[in-house]
Amino acid sequence: MKNIALIGFMGSGKTTVGRILAKRLGYSFADMDEVIERKSGKAIANIFRDDGEEAFRNAETETLLEVLAKAEVVISCGGGVILREENRSALRLNSIVVFLKAGPEEIFKRVGNTGDMRPLLNTDNPRAAIERMLQDRESYYESAADIGVDTTGKSPGRVAELIIEELTTIDIA
Ligand code: S3P
Repeated sequence: MKNIALIGFMGSGKTTVGRILAKRLGYSFADMDEVIERKSGKAIANIFRDDGEEAFRNAETETLLEVLAKAEVVISCGGGVILREENRSALRLNSIVVFLKAGPEEIFKRVGNTGDMRPLLNTDNPRAAIERMLQDRESYYESAADIGVDTTGKSPGRVAELIIEELTTIDIA
């Protein structure tokens, strides 16, 4: 069976929903940021600080291709995975792509103060950074996705349930 890749902005619930979804489907689970941290022996924030965003994006692409080569994995992707065309086409070919949607208000509530862990939100005005990045990325998320689920006001369990309902309407083999 194909892999299932969760995409969406930081704070859209990819990791929490992904773990629940994997359990319910009997799939294994991979969180890309965790894999990158394990492989490099460094926290994401330190990779950005010491090596720069480009180095992080290279590690992200390498990790994505490795994880996508497996089968029956629910993959929680980093929020910026859709920035590279190479990543978007690898996702399209090797997984069913699920876009977890959330508006700027909701995202700010969930991750506005996590700049220590999320270097792109480590600014004087994380709210403005969220709005700008969401706007820049929206069309990439939309175009990469096979399925979209609005997460606003829903528990992670409910989101997982909605994804499973959607999956039954498409051929996931
Ligand atoms: C990023 C999202 C983060 C992490 C890195 C960059 C982004 O992952 O990969 O800080 O560009 O949106 P989460 O979406 O899991 O927070």
